[in-house]
Amino acid sequence: MPAFADPSQQLDGFQWPLQPPEAPPSAGRRLRLAVMASGEGSNFEALTQACRADRPAADVVLLVVNNPGCAARERASRLGVPCRLIDHRLQPSRDALDAALVEAFQEAQVDLVVMAGWMRIVTRRLVEAFPERLVNIHPSLLPSFRGMDAVGQALAAGVRLAGCTAHLVNEQVDAGRILVQAAVPVLEGDDHASLSARIQRQEHRILPLAVQLAAERLGLPAQG
Ligand code: GAR
Repeated sequence: MPAFADPSQQLDGFQWPLQPPEAPPSAGRRLRLAVMASGEGSNFEALTQACRADRPAADVVLLVVNNPGCAARERASRLGVPCRLIDHRLQPSRDALDAALVEAFQEAQVDLVVMAGWMRIVTRRLVEAFPERLVNIHPSLLPSFRGMDAVGQALAAGVRLAGCTAHLVNEQVDAGRILVQAAVPVLEGDDHASLSARIQRQEHRILPLAVQLAAERLGLPAQG
C-alpha cells in the first residue's frame, strides 16, 4: 500500500512562511484594519476572528462592500463590525469608486486595508493612497492564474498543486510583493467546489499572517 494513499488525510495544505519573524512587543497600540469584500465574506470573518484572538493584534474597524445583497454584509452585522455599502453601480467611474473608498478609509483612520474577495479592479487612486498598506488575497499560487476564476484556470490547466497568495497590491492585477503563500494538492475527482474549499481553508490561515507581515514591514506593531 502506498505510504501516501490519500494526501487529503495527511496534507490539507502547506504554508510559507510558517510564522512571522519575532517582533518586539507592541506598545499597546492595536492596528486599525479596513476590509473590502464583494461576496461571501468568509475571509473577512476569519480575519476578524483572528484579530479578536490577537493574531494579529489588530481590530477590523470597517468593512466596505460594493454589493447590497452580499453575505459579507450579514456577517459584519452578526460580528458587530461597522459596514459601509459603496455600490460601484452608483459611481460614474472606477476612479470615483476608489475615491469614495479612500475617503471612507481615511475617515476610519485605518493603518492597513485588506482586499478579501473584492471583485473590482482597483486604480492608482487607491494604491497611491495606501502605499505598501493594501493587501490582497488571491486563490492561486501567483504568478500563475491571475485574474478571474483562478480555481477554474488551475483545474483547466491540470496542475497538481494549487493554492493561494496574500500579497501587497500595486497597479497591476494580482501582482505586487508576495507576503505568504499556501499550497494545496489537487486530488483526483476534485471539482471547482471541492478545490475552492480546500484553498479557502488556507486563505483563512494565511491572510492574518500576511497582515502581520505587512505591518511589520512598515514598523507598525501587530503582535499581542
Ligand atoms: C476568495 O477565495 C479570494 O481569494 C477570491 O475571492 C474569494 C472570496 O471569498 N478573490 C479573488 O479571486 C480576487 N482575485 P470570501 O468572500 O468567502 O472571502
